Amino acid sequence: MKKTFLLLMTMTTLLMGACTQSQETGLVKSGEIWLDTDSNMINAHGGGILYHEGTYYWYGEYKGDSTYWNPKVPHWECYRTEAGGVSCYSSKNLVDWKFEGVVLPAEQNDSASDLHFSNVLERPKVIYNDVTKKFVMWLHVDSHNYAKAASGVAVCDTPTGQFEYLGSMRPNGAMARDMTLFKDDDGKAYHIYSSEENSTLYISLLTDDYLRPSGRFTRNFPGAYREAPAVFKHQGKYYILSSGCTGWDPNQAQYAMADSMLGEWKVMGNPCSGKDADITFYGQSTHVLKVGENSYMAMFDRWNKTDLINSRYIWLPLTFKGDSIDIAWQDAWSVSTLK
Ligand code: GAL
Repeated sequence: MKKTFLLLMTMTTLLMGACTQSQETGLVKSGEIWLDTDSNMINAHGGGILYHEGTYYWYGEYKGDSTYWNPKVPHWECYRTEAGGVSCYSSKNLVDWKFEGVVLPAEQNDSASDLHFSNVLERPKVIYNDVTKKFVMWLHVDSHNYAKAASGVAVCDTPTGQFEYLGSMRPNGAMARDMTLFKDDDGKAYHIYSSEENSTLYISLLTDDYLRPSGRFTRNFPGAYREAPAVFKHQGKYYILSSGCTGWDPNQAQYAMADSMLGEWKVMGNPCSGKDADITFYGQSTHVLKVGENSYMAMFDRWNKTDLINSRYIWLPLTFKGDSIDIAWQDAWSVSTLK
């Protein structure tokens, strides 16, 4: 009895120690367990952050709690969980995250729905349309074996309300898997996605309401198999951070830059430095958040492929030397350095 009590106490202490570091100190400790303000583990994978009227909204994949290997996909390690939909957390300081709920829930009954829990719902991103006043979400929707390769769209009047699912498509008539959105300063928005069996990255200008492809798109890095795109703009130049294509396993990141979204992209190399920089610190890119006028934070997922809900987050400052970017590993850093 005494032994059990001691064991319990030790486990609780260990868990508390691992979990509360961010909130207590304002430090970001990548790769550790992060808790929300209710002390639950944050479940927002493959996500992105929208800054809107003084609040950060973090949207991500709400992973189911059991991971299994999908035997119907023989040619690669298709570990997956039941799709839980898209979660949202809010924060004023990028450290204390309040769970706002599952804003796009998975469908429990209708197996024909894109959102059915047996399907794949990944890499949700949300942008705000200043004209329609709608929050617009795009996400990768797929069948259990990733054969559907499509993008879904959902809208909401508020950042934390229930999003209305509008349906899915193969944008510009081509496959779409890993994806992100980018809203430019002129209000134009782009959908960036891995297409043609992930071999080529498409950049597609959206219609003014952000709900459909406009028909203008470019095919980039053909044959290079880039995934996990994250796009941002710094001093008039555009940047794409991406990973190679090795499923849940880490590989070397790469970035490219261009003078315009639909222009020519120049491959620049690996932006990561420090411990395990050659394999992106065991992570995979998902988003780059601009903070203030000139600070950037690069966000990665450190996938735990046999227990996906227990994947961790890696957030690091992204800095510039001229046009070149550097994302250096840091065990702990303070968000107050982002200005
Ligand atoms: C990765 C992709 C993830 C997920 C995974 C499935 O390459 O970036 O979002 O789809 O494959 O194995």
